[in-house]
Amino acid sequence: MEVTLRRFELSDVDAMMAWASDPEVAAFCRWEPYESTEPLLAYLRDTVLPHPWFRAICLTGGEDARPVGAVSLAPTADTCRGELGYVVARAQWGKGVATAAVKGAVAAVFGGEVEGLERVEALVDVDNTASQRVVEKAGFRREGVLRRHYWHKGRVRDLVMYSFISSDHLAEQSRSSRNPATQLQHFSTICVPNRMCSFF
Ligand SMILES: CC(C)(COP(=O)(O)OP(=O)(O)OC[C@H]1O[C@@H](n2cnc3c(N)ncnc32)[C@H](O)[C@@H]1OP(=O)(O)O)[C@@H](O)C(=O)NCCC(=O)NCCS
Repeated sequence: MEVTLRRFELSDVDAMMAWASDPEVAAFCRWEPYESTEPLLAYLRDTVLPHPWFRAICLTGGEDARPVGAVSLAPTADTCRGELGYVVARAQWGKGVATAAVKGAVAAVFGGEVEGLERVEALVDVDNTASQRVVEKAGFRREGVLRRHYWHKGRVRDLVMYSFISSDHLAEQSRSSRNPATQLQHFSTICVPNRMCSFF
């Protein structure tokens, strides 16, 4: 199985519903499960397409493959730093898809797709053990726990802070998976607040 990353298209909305409508997928994410495609289509049009780095995770090569998930790097208050988010449809969990996508994303953003980037960080809920495994397998360093860091669906939560910096080791297979078709992004053009898993 080959995991590839590509830009989203409006026609991906039906594939996105597979994970965006799933309460189990949304449990650790900011958004509530989508009940219809219309608001998801609006999100795709207004946020995903203009986003500086937001990619569809696909399981085969080629531009036509249907996405099984998404990975993004959100700008933060400082252009040296971006915040990673990722999500995979439940039918594909436990197959290494997210780990491969995160490795590919790190290789791409440090490989020239995001200008001036020095640090990728991932903020993971202390109870989201699958997500912690993903970034650990992808080579991120666990820096510590941010206690009572944010409100999540009515409860204040602790987050684990992970980082991957530009001098950290990139797995060889990820280096070779860079997609030359993607263009250089000017990461400083959009600045959004630091939001965990803020896909939708
Ligand atoms: C987190 C998520 C992206 C992982 O996707 P995935 O494709 O299944 O990830 P991978 O297969 O690459 O790796 C998952 C790892 O977590 C482990 N895992 C899964 N569920 C687990 C659990 N409940 N407790 C401990 N480990 C768990 C798997 O065994 C695997 O580790 P291993 O390879 O050492 O066995 C997916 O579960 C998801 O989309 N969750 C909802 C959205 C989300 O939480 N996103 C991240 C927010 S920070």
